[in-house]
Amino acid sequence: MSMNGNNGQGESPLQLRCAPIECVRIGFVGLGVRAKRAVHRMMHIEGCEVVALCDLVEENIEEAKAIIADYGTAAPAAFCDADGWKRLCEMPGIDLVYICTDWASHADIAVYAMQQGKHVATEVPAATTVADCWRLVDTAEATRRHCIMLENCCYDEFELCVLNMAQKGVFGEIIHAEGSYLHDLRERIATNDDGGRKWSNWQVEFMNRHNGNPYPTHGLGPIALAMNINSGDRMKSIVSVSTKRIEGNGDESLSGTMNSSVITTEKGHTILVQSCMTLPRPYSRAFLVSGTEGFAQKYPVPAFALAPDSDNALMGEECDKLLKQHRHPFVEMYKERGEELCGRRWIDYAMDCRLIHCLRNGLPLDMNVYDAALWSSLVELTEISANNGGMPVEIPDFTRGRWG
Ligand SMILES: NC(=O)c1ccc[n+]([C@@H]2O[C@H](COP(=O)([O-])OP(=O)(O)OC[C@H]3O[C@@H](n4cnc5c(N)ncnc54)[C@H](O)[C@@H]3O)[C@@H](O)[C@H]2O)c1
Repeated sequence: MSMNGNNGQGESPLQLRCAPIECVRIGFVGLGVRAKRAVHRMMHIEGCEVVALCDLVEENIEEAKAIIADYGTAAPAAFCDADGWKRLCEMPGIDLVYICTDWASHADIAVYAMQQGKHVATEVPAATTVADCWRLVDTAEATRRHCIMLENCCYDEFELCVLNMAQKGVFGEIIHAEGSYLHDLRERIATNDDGGRKWSNWQVEFMNRHNGNPYPTHGLGPIALAMNINSGDRMKSIVSVSTKRIEGNGDESLSGTMNSSVITTEKGHTILVQSCMTLPRPYSRAFLVSGTEGFAQKYPVPAFALAPDSDNALMGEECDKLLKQHRHPFVEMYKERGEELCGRRWIDYAMDCRLIHCLRNGLPLDMNVYDAALWSSLVELTEISANNGGMPVEIPDFTRGRWG
């Protein structure tokens, strides 16, 4: 994956191209907290239309319909029962199924949507088992449909800048990187997002039953792109350990672990991925790269260091200067308007704009099904390793040898 906004000419065979779609007709499955924001964004993106909605909660559908009605576009079809998502996927007038349901249901919906000839964009993680990751890859290959995981953190300004710098060779060979999801969500999860989530508390249910890293993709995604994973290197094996279970904030119903994993790549590089949502600590996605020529970290304080002056951490104004110098084109294109519409969530606007732009122009998407499968496979692989005392576990090559 290139994230360079080019036309994909001469890219690897993993860069699937499909016929351009003049106006992308979107069906949403899952209309909770996350999806309603996406419906709102789509109202401001040229060349797309929300034509169908599906959720298990009537109120969510009504709220999404109201957003669409505010913008005066045609009323969408609506499905509000257990099999509604299938009927939505079968609808002839849909190009893209945009999935914002709970973690465990993403893969089934994505596979069925592709089998019905639809492109798929799914929230993170795309799947929660390795078997489901393979089903995504197998189906995308068989149907030649796009399947992108909506990893919005890949579109954040610092991450895109580092990607730009990595592609220019500023860091030399990136030998080690770190990407995490450390977020004190005890209150939000225990209260089902302060009551904003109107369905079951699927996140508590998942976290209580699982022992690995349930949410690896925010940390891993931007690192994988900067390290050319799936397009020059591949993740080979992982060792993972979890702490004892941490009970969430006096609420007996929520527990989680702090999970730490080290991935080794084919080229002998390492990636540290951590997750914790149940300890009081400042938000961090870590995001650190360390190469033969330079270093970058985003948290807790953004900083660069460049050889040969590597003891000199470039922070504050010096850091800002580098951020400006290596600003990624997507930031130029989408940040200002995105901030007007969604404040700090402008990265979601950038992500959706890119998705619609690529579909409208028949371009490869910024991330492909192999990225979705690989990054999501860590949900189960970390758990297998952690449950076996940190045993090394092989990471499948979802590209079947085409990563080089
Ligand atoms: N990238 C980010 O920054 C970010 C932020 C928040 C959430 N998310 C992701 O978005 C997804 C949704 O999170 P949320 O906070 O909106 O949850 P939510 O509970 O508010 O929404 C999920 C909705 O899916 C619906 N649903 C579940 N199964 C369904 C089915 N079979 N058919 C139709 N509808 C079904 C539920 O009724 C519910 O309304 C998750 O994957 C989450 O991890 C991502």
